[in-house]
Amino acid sequence: MTHTNQTISVRSGIESDQQFGAVTPPLYLSSNYTFADLEQPRKYDYSRSGNPTRDTLADTLAQLENGYGAVITSSGMSAVYLVTHLLDKGDLIIAPHDCYGGTYRLLYSLAQKGLFEVLFVDQGCAESLQQALNKKPKLVWIETPSNPLLRVVDIQQICDLAGSDVIKVVDNTFLSPVLQQPLNLGADVVIHSTTKYINGHSDVVGGAVIAREQELSEKLAWWANCIGITGSPFDSFITSRGLRTLSIRLRQHQENTHRVIQYLQQQPLVEHIYYPGLESHPTHTVAAKQQQGFGAMLSFELNLDHANLRTFVNSLELFSLAESLGGVESLICHPASMTHAAMDQEARFNAGIKNNLLRVSVGIEEADDLIKDLESAFQRCQIKVIQGEQHG
Ligand SMILES: Cc1ncc(COP(=O)(O)O)c(C=O)c1O
Repeated sequence: MTHTNQTISVRSGIESDQQFGAVTPPLYLSSNYTFADLEQPRKYDYSRSGNPTRDTLADTLAQLENGYGAVITSSGMSAVYLVTHLLDKGDLIIAPHDCYGGTYRLLYSLAQKGLFEVLFVDQGCAESLQQALNKKPKLVWIETPSNPLLRVVDIQQICDLAGSDVIKVVDNTFLSPVLQQPLNLGADVVIHSTTKYINGHSDVVGGAVIAREQELSEKLAWWANCIGITGSPFDSFITSRGLRTLSIRLRQHQENTHRVIQYLQQQPLVEHIYYPGLESHPTHTVAAKQQQGFGAMLSFELNLDHANLRTFVNSLELFSLAESLGGVESLICHPASMTHAAMDQEARFNAGIKNNLLRVSVGIEEADDLIKDLESAFQRCQIKVIQGEQHG
């Protein structure tokens, strides 16, 4: 199902140390830097505005996304917040109706305060998208694939339709620059929650904003310093370390996903699998065209009542019941009561998120172990279902 095993060799600062020739770049924790003389600042003066360790990460991400420059932020949400500074009062932003809940909450709340206007639309529906674009937005926010149903929208097509006067921003968190490069498809800005695949070890919360052109890049860097949301040197150091294995991790993530899906397809209790790599997935063709792989996030519905669903998730030993995604460890989550609990039941149903839906972030454990773990969880449920039938 993964159609390319593209390799991107990431050195991220390897052999950049001039002083001692350290193979791995040093970590500069210092908050400030001496001036060489009066009126003679060096390259760095204060770590909120610039830091060598953070710059190493920024340069690597800019290179991977094919951008002019990157700003490293303290979280994925501060990356989203930073981008809103490209808007002025009265400007309109068009965002997906099924974007990440935190993004929805932030855009909605800032619009409520009157900082700009926001319109949430189903960007997969050509008519709704065109109607929204007719309102002359300043910025179009794209997030693909969506969470948790992995719907894919055509980045190039949306960027073309929006035209050059509109700033096109893509949240590339679910795939990373190894599997999708939105700037090559016409976007102006890419954002990431680096908390996910880029760091990949679930031990840093961070973000990044990468711009294609110098002007936007400098504007974003100016605002990041002005607001004070640049990432910490330590987090940048850890994230650079994670980034060096991104490509190989994704290869394993995707191979495991392939195996997990093959297994789930044979399970009678599985009602529906949502994964863009499946030909039956409604937006498979767009995913195959614009992505270099189908990723390692999948969702599925189980034909189980709530008690048995609980038994299933509690029986799993290698899939931790937790939110977030993109780490080396496999995670399972129940969107209705976890990631999407803030939506009321009706809104969730309208968005297609059923109560028996589970979302999985497939890790890089041995695939055989993951399958065995799923097998034993299914066995427990089947025993409970049969016992229940007998008692009933
Ligand atoms: C697609 C997407 N964008 C942005 C964010 C926000 O990132 P963070 O949690 O690092 O602030 C998340 C977090 O889950 C996400 O999934």
